[in-house]
Amino acid sequence: MSGHDTPIPMQSARSGPLRGVAEVPGDKSISHRALILGALSVGETRITGLLEGQDVLDTAAAMRAFGATVTRHGPGEWTVQGVGVGGFAEPEQVIDCGNSGTGVRLIMGAMATTAISATFTGDASLNKRPMGRVTDPLALFGAQAHGRAGGRLPMTVVGAADPVPVRYTLPMPSAQVKSAVLLAGLNAPGESVVIEPEVTRDHTERMLRGFGAEITVEDTVEGRVITLTGQPELVAQSVAVPRDPSSAAFPVCAALIVPGSEITVPGVSRNPTRNGLFTTLVEMGADLTFENPREEGGEPVADLRVRYTGALKGVETPPGRAASMIDEFPILSVVAACAEGRTVMNGVKELRVKESDRIDAMARGLEACGVRIEENEDTLIVHGCGPEGVPGGATAESRLDHRIAMAFLCLGLVAKKPVKVDDGGPIATSFPVFEPLMTALGATITRSNA
Ligand code: S3P
Repeated sequence: MSGHDTPIPMQSARSGPLRGVAEVPGDKSISHRALILGALSVGETRITGLLEGQDVLDTAAAMRAFGATVTRHGPGEWTVQGVGVGGFAEPEQVIDCGNSGTGVRLIMGAMATTAISATFTGDASLNKRPMGRVTDPLALFGAQAHGRAGGRLPMTVVGAADPVPVRYTLPMPSAQVKSAVLLAGLNAPGESVVIEPEVTRDHTERMLRGFGAEITVEDTVEGRVITLTGQPELVAQSVAVPRDPSSAAFPVCAALIVPGSEITVPGVSRNPTRNGLFTTLVEMGADLTFENPREEGGEPVADLRVRYTGALKGVETPPGRAASMIDEFPILSVVAACAEGRTVMNGVKELRVKESDRIDAMARGLEACGVRIEENEDTLIVHGCGPEGVPGGATAESRLDHRIAMAFLCLGLVAKKPVKVDDGGPIATSFPVFEPLMTALGATITRSNA
């Protein structure tokens, strides 16, 4: 689907303590990968806890278009009858990935070494985002891409009929690019190697191993070296998708800024490549306790207990931590706005090419709410309002970006005056139950006529 048609204005207002259990939905990254690897396997993959957000539903539809049988059996329970590595059929229609950069980039990789063509498009946000970062390495395999100026969608990818393996060093810390190369490497003969100078989320590597691929990961002076042996037979698996730490971030951070709050988020991923926000919050003085650590679906998980203990203090986040919390900077900016002192977020230029330019979207919205901001290409600095409180009383533009919309709705729970967002519709891409979940915890979030 190419975005929703009618904006859904929403607002939030000062709320009493948030209390209860926040059962956030399944991890978005893992959900996309489970569908794609299921489609590339032989046999029937069973998935539980799949995120049923629009981004993932678009990937499910895409896998059907490439020939897999994808069936929903109940909430979060899906099966995928795969076509095997190299078995993708040529889609008859344009593949519409909606708002999802992960969806389009991973699927481009997955089809790039099969002798088929596919044309991809998305919504107004996705069609502005750079695809050259994926099509450049895919060209090394022998694939071709024809898109709009600047490597933008809509774009046709012509898969390599005779792919060759590649060795590729990531020019930017991007799990999407890494994953596109690894998925393309599946149908190339021999060993394909991806080197990442900065570690990014490793769900693709973990899941490829789980589906039976031969993949090794080595930490070297160059960075992390990932070697995949091509043309394996992937074998269908059962995948239990853990809860998404990037979605958990919203109720967790809301509980840390609303006085008196105490919530639990069960079964949240503790994958170290996704952990940067929790590390940062603890440095700011947050009371976070991880209980009952265990493994689910090949990923470490734990139950997270969060308690409000007073105003947090501003910190500086190092550039090397940015990739492990790349989707959490919008909500961290809100926590920073409520904290005492300034928070400096370093090495965050990748935020400029997300669903929106997230540095600009947060800076402009926070300024409208009375928060002092400094920014440059790669850094965002938020001057916390501390005990005086954030004035609020403004409308933030969500810019077709779910995380911007949710971040500002969390800010309104503690600001002196309500905060509006012009369009909460994009929230459905990653966290369709955000509104009822937050309301059940005690948040005052309503649909409004902004
Ligand atoms: C994702 C990787 C990240 C992240 C996105 C999901 C993934 O993007 O922002 O929401 O599932 O691989 P980049 O890898 O481009 O930084």
